[in-house]
Amino acid sequence: MKKIKIIGTGSYLPEKVLTNDDLAKIVDTSDEWITQRTGIKERHIASSDQATSDLGVIAARRCFETFDIDPKSIDCIIFGTVTPDKLFPSTSIYVQKALNMPNIPVFDISAACSGFIYGLAVANGLINSTSMKRILVLGGETLSKVTNWSDRSTCVLFGDGVGCAVVEESHDESGLLSIYIGADGNMENLLHQPAGGSRNPATFETVEKKLHTIHMEGNEVYKHAVNTMQMAAEKAISMANISSEDIKWFIPHQANIRIIDTTAKYLKVPKEKVFVNIDKTANTSAGSIPIALDQMNRNGLLKKGDIILIDAFGAGFTWGASVIRW
Ligand code: UT7
Repeated sequence: MKKIKIIGTGSYLPEKVLTNDDLAKIVDTSDEWITQRTGIKERHIASSDQATSDLGVIAARRCFETFDIDPKSIDCIIFGTVTPDKLFPSTSIYVQKALNMPNIPVFDISAACSGFIYGLAVANGLINSTSMKRILVLGGETLSKVTNWSDRSTCVLFGDGVGCAVVEESHDESGLLSIYIGADGNMENLLHQPAGGSRNPATFETVEKKLHTIHMEGNEVYKHAVNTMQMAAEKAISMANISSEDIKWFIPHQANIRIIDTTAKYLKVPKEKVFVNIDKTANTSAGSIPIALDQMNRNGLLKKGDIILIDAFGAGFTWGASVIRW
């Protein structure tokens, strides 16, 4: 079995920043409520002419340039997103076109906030079972495009952004020591976009009822997020044959600071080893983990040999966790 490793990272957050105070001008909320209940202070919002692939293209270019990776050396593009440019073709197609990487296979993964970890798992499988050597895995969203800006219970939570990583076979100690993904469709209606697909195609009525936006039962999702992130992390830790004391960095999905703190406490990972950027990014769904990885990588926080745990949970429900030796 080949072990894969991350050889480069990139990310992009759109220029426009929307603060909690800005939101308090459009819905009945406050900086105090949002900060205390979620840890979020501000989020980035894509411009009207920026689609998810546009963010992905910038993230990928940054990765290629910084880590000296030739785009022509990439054998496949995988994009975890639930806010594709169009329902079809895939968002990866637009990344491929913009970066001039013709003929390689490209596709999207719909696993919501777990999309990037699902992408890593699929890349691992492809490198182990095909002649593919290098894969670009992206994760991220323009959730602002499917946000109901009059629903205070959801519009304060999300932000736009895409992150990415290039993976290939590792020939040294570094790489993915474990990867675990899972899903349970029984609670799909707790977090979803009800219309726009084949179940509820777009009509005047669906638009009028704002059924093309995010619908979430926050409280219920919260409980499942806490339990499932703990379970997924434990599974990845045991599959990697390490103990939680070995973890140098815990990089959890950034959905709510209270979920992050509870999960870290349960895993007995001290606060100083937990990476948090939710105050600046909000919940970027599939972007959350790769954006965090790239910010840490660029800031020199990740040292060769460090043991890192990534852990995500999202709509579906889906989940995924992986232990990586940097
Ligand atoms: O990324 C995928 C997974 N997503 C998540 O993991 C999100 C999970 N859920 C959560 O993070 C939390 O449930 C929320 C942040 C969404 C909500 O926090 P909460 O502590 O569960 O609040 P709540 O829904 O129980 O609402 C408490 C009160 C309610 O008022 P009443 O009924 O007590 O009078 C809400 O109407 O807060 C009210 N409220 C707000 N008040 C001010 C809800 N949203 C807001 C708001 N500003 N933005």
